[in-house]
Amino acid sequence: MKILPGPASKELGEKIAQLLGVQTVPVFFKNFPDGESYVRLEGTVEGETTVIVQTTSPPQDTRLIQLALIADAAKRNNAVKVVAAVPYLAYARQDKVFLKGEPISIEAVARMLKAAGVDSLITVNVHQQNILAKFPFQAKSISAIPLLAEHFRQRGFKEAFALAPDKGAISIAEEAAKVLGGDFGYLEKHRDRYTGRVTVEKREFAVKGRAVIIFDDIISTGGTIVAAANLLHELGAAKVYAACVHPLLVGEAERRIREAGVAEIVGTDSVPSPVSKVSLAPLIAQALRELQSG
Ligand code: R5P
Repeated sequence: MKILPGPASKELGEKIAQLLGVQTVPVFFKNFPDGESYVRLEGTVEGETTVIVQTTSPPQDTRLIQLALIADAAKRNNAVKVVAAVPYLAYARQDKVFLKGEPISIEAVARMLKAAGVDSLITVNVHQQNILAKFPFQAKSISAIPLLAEHFRQRGFKEAFALAPDKGAISIAEEAAKVLGGDFGYLEKHRDRYTGRVTVEKREFAVKGRAVIIFDDIISTGGTIVAAANLLHELGAAKVYAACVHPLLVGEAERRIREAGVAEIVGTDSVPSPVSKVSLAPLIAQALRELQSG
């Protein structure tokens, strides 16, 4: 097995290779003056299972194209199997036609990757697990929630309340609560499809005077965390924290979240950022070991 750390996940790719004790093949990349992407493998992958580690957080389109180009290069250089390890899988949230005339973006992306040479894919906390069954290759999503919860547990957050900011994330809160040893709950969230404004329904939780950690897969604009944090403060929570797998933190998200009284944001290196305090390397390395052993 050889690891190709893509331009978007160089550090993570190198950490994974180190944990697995396998070689990396550096990927040279640049942009042409007109903005097109260029990549070149600086080593051989012939006869090897080749793992491209490349997240597809913003700029998503560039990173997806780089991933496709690296897969094509690997196949042309006689890799036996091309595995894409894509911690944050862009376009996964457009997994159905919500409004007439829309595409199912994630299915189009998966077909594009297949055409480029990807034979299988590993991702982390994909937005909806069931979309993977529609991919034209084997695809698996692994959960980083236990790692995030463990990070808090080791810092003394045993029995903190774990909150999912919407019903779809309830399994995330449950997973976190198993590690923290406390209880969990979820909110009913509504997002206006046209304005993007997030509101949550008022619900009662036994959080008065307690530390609460909001667990979510993604923090994008921060609207979800802000709405959840406001409610938690209203309910008397002593301190509110936010944990997420993919800290996209678009625009002013981080500032908005802090201004809503959230004490700390903890994310993973799925999306390298100042809040990426937990590394996915051990999780992805383990998934690759399992893949190798069939
Ligand atoms: C949506 O269902 C996801 O689980 C996240 O809650 C959402 O993507 C967060 O977006 P934002 O930070 O923009 O509210």
